[in-house]
Amino acid sequence: MNAETLVIRRPDDWHVHLRDGAMLAAVTPHTARQFARAIVMPNLKPPVTTAAAAAAYRDRIRAAVPAGVTFEPLMTCYLVDHIDPDELVRGFAEGIFTAAKLYPAHATTNSAAGVTDVRHIYPALEAMQRVGMPFLIHGEVTDHDVDIFDREAVFIERTLQHVVADFPALKIVFEHITTRDAVQFVEGAGPLIAATITPHHLAINRSAMFEGGIRPHLYCLPVAKREVHRLALRAAAVSGSPKFFLGTDSAPHPVGDKESDCGCAGIYNAPFAIESYAKTFDEERALDRLEGFASLFGPQFYGLPLNEDRITLVRGETIVPARLALAGTDVVPFHGGQTLGWRFVG
Ligand code: NCD
Ligand code: ZN
Repeated sequence: MNAETLVIRRPDDWHVHLRDGAMLAAVTPHTARQFARAIVMPNLKPPVTTAAAAAAYRDRIRAAVPAGVTFEPLMTCYLVDHIDPDELVRGFAEGIFTAAKLYPAHATTNSAAGVTDVRHIYPALEAMQRVGMPFLIHGEVTDHDVDIFDREAVFIERTLQHVVADFPALKIVFEHITTRDAVQFVEGAGPLIAATITPHHLAINRSAMFEGGIRPHLYCLPVAKREVHRLALRAAAVSGSPKFFLGTDSAPHPVGDKESDCGCAGIYNAPFAIESYAKTFDEERALDRLEGFASLFGPQFYGLPLNEDRITLVRGETIVPARLALAGTDVVPFHGGQTLGWRFVG
């Protein structure tokens, strides 16, 4: 397909960081402009660990959605060691929690309160399996003896394969996968195991982080890997397999926190996310597969209705600003300073 206009069901973002306060107010309109729903990550300070905190956060997100825009935040619970399974089940039954998220302790931004050993949350996983509540995983080991580029592959071996074996009826999303190993694991697992893929891991490999000098705005976790892995992710995304679907992992940080002697992990891609995915699918000559990846497979996996409205993309220039003034600071967006070949019309 080499269409000039692309009309697809409105997509959803199955993994986003909306933050809180002024940053929440600034970034929510970007996500709500393109996506009908989003799975909102709970790694606030302090993290969202109760249904009451999630309900209050959901209210703050709804208040940040511009008038006339329809957007549904889907809330997640931040799993901590020995979390009360009843709290998860109650929050899920009340429609406050859509899923629960595993951050291995110290794996990424705001994960200090995360899980130190997955066995500590086995009672929670039992309960989630019983009620059909999806388990979302940041899949990296944190052992310092493991090279940072191997942390996802080693997580599969040391943790994920055991969780899958111990909870065969648990729905699992392996979030923001970055390796061929993860693609192969998900492909070989049963229908309850799926994965999200970000726009940036489809677009860049690890060399891009060092092109001509260090590029802090391309640093995220899990970190981008070798080209062979990027190619495997692209093949998975455009394959038409319902196991792979859209999750941006859009993660805004003030420019000063990125351009620092200890710059934080996270790429802000929300403003031009669908244009970035369209670029990849176009390059792979798979524009006819974009709708499945962006708008069908996610809701099917979560057991939610498809969106009824449509969005339109046209072939044409989108100039991505080098910087965006947000929340009293600047944020450098993904593709900043570049021109993309698709335009989001609405
Ligand atoms: C995320 C963030 O900044 O909250 N950063 C990132 O690099 N992706 C956390 C996460 O999802 O790992
Ligand atoms: Zn994330």
